[in-house]
Amino acid sequence: MTTASLNTVPFVSVDNMMKLVLKIGIEPFLKGLADTIEADFRRWPQFDKRERVPCHSAEGVIELMPTSDGDLYGFKYVNGHPKNMKEGRQTVTGFGVLADVHTGYPMLFSEMTLLTALRTAATSAVAAKYLARKDASVMAIIGNGAQSEFQAMAFKALLGIKRLRLYDLDAAATEKCRRNLSAFGFEIVACKTAEEAVEGADIITTVTADKRQNTILSDNMAGPGVHINAVGGDSPGKTELARDILLRSDIFVEYPPQTRIEGEIQQLAPDYPVTELWQVINGEAEGRRDDRRITLFDSVGFATEDFSALRFVHSLLKETGLYQDLDLVADPDEPRDLFGMLIRAEAAQKAA
Ligand SMILES: NC(=O)c1ccc[n+]([C@@H]2O[C@H](COP(=O)([O-])OP(=O)(O)OC[C@H]3O[C@@H](n4cnc5c(N)ncnc54)[C@H](O)[C@@H]3O)[C@@H](O)[C@H]2O)c1
Repeated sequence: MTTASLNTVPFVSVDNMMKLVLKIGIEPFLKGLADTIEADFRRWPQFDKRERVPCHSAEGVIELMPTSDGDLYGFKYVNGHPKNMKEGRQTVTGFGVLADVHTGYPMLFSEMTLLTALRTAATSAVAAKYLARKDASVMAIIGNGAQSEFQAMAFKALLGIKRLRLYDLDAAATEKCRRNLSAFGFEIVACKTAEEAVEGADIITTVTADKRQNTILSDNMAGPGVHINAVGGDSPGKTELARDILLRSDIFVEYPPQTRIEGEIQQLAPDYPVTELWQVINGEAEGRRDDRRITLFDSVGFATEDFSALRFVHSLLKETGLYQDLDLVADPDEPRDLFGMLIRAEAAQKAA
């Protein structure tokens, strides 16, 4: 009898993602993820690229982020709702799919709330590896919410940053971040203002959530030689930096057409010169010019980074077995007999 045959798709739940990251180890996982992200940046021209597709509302945004390298296709569904946190929900959640371009069949279905935090942090650290001063040792993190500890761990794993200066509008968030990171060998200073947090910092990460144009860093807070990792400004009308800082910085972006709409550079003219990160990684463009320049990674998050993250997770499934099989694709024995599969299932139900 022809019924649905076993054509299952591996599904990585939140529970299995946690097990996977802990089994590999947080820092080794971040390093492996960063290597995959970097390898995919190196072959940037191979990717089919477009701005993500947003659906804006008064409260937030829901976005689809597709890309393909010609063999694999991936997309992420992700939201950004800053008010969620006060209602006991995540500001950012996501899930994603990796598929085989040659059959169109999905190969992986995964949670991407944790994976987004990991990939965002890994991407930030890859950028900083190329752009921050080589002697950078102190990082300020402004905004101590869901993403913050991941940023700290990635900068430790890739750049050896162990000294942190934390600030959040809500002191309870800073305390949570300090407590969560206490077992990982950081030297942490909890600060009372953003100005205090950036004192002596070589790298400044801004990762706040607010659905409007904000000034987390005013012009006087960015001194010579600093690297700014601006993560929270990632939607039209949602920025974190004073415009004057941008005018004094060398600006590096993921995919200019998307960043010009969503990033800090939405504050500048549409043709303002920026450098694409992949070109720096490939050696085709200059990164940091000298120890006194301000470098700015205007991060908004691009589809290739999620593709890399899904690819990395997929590569770990066989050895770890940390997934469930999802009955996601109908697969009758005779491909044209989809309807027959349905009515035979009814007959089987009646007989049971
Ligand atoms: N660039 C990317 O790839 C990327 C990826 C993921 C998330 N994000 C963005 O990162 C931001 C943070 O995400 P999250 O999941 O950590 O959010 P979250 O809501 O968990 O935390 C945000 C924190 O920012 C603090 N905050 C808000 N305004 C502040 C201010 N003026 N000064 C200091 N702190 C302030 C809040 O109190 C909160 O603790 C969001 O804006 C999100 O959209 C960007």
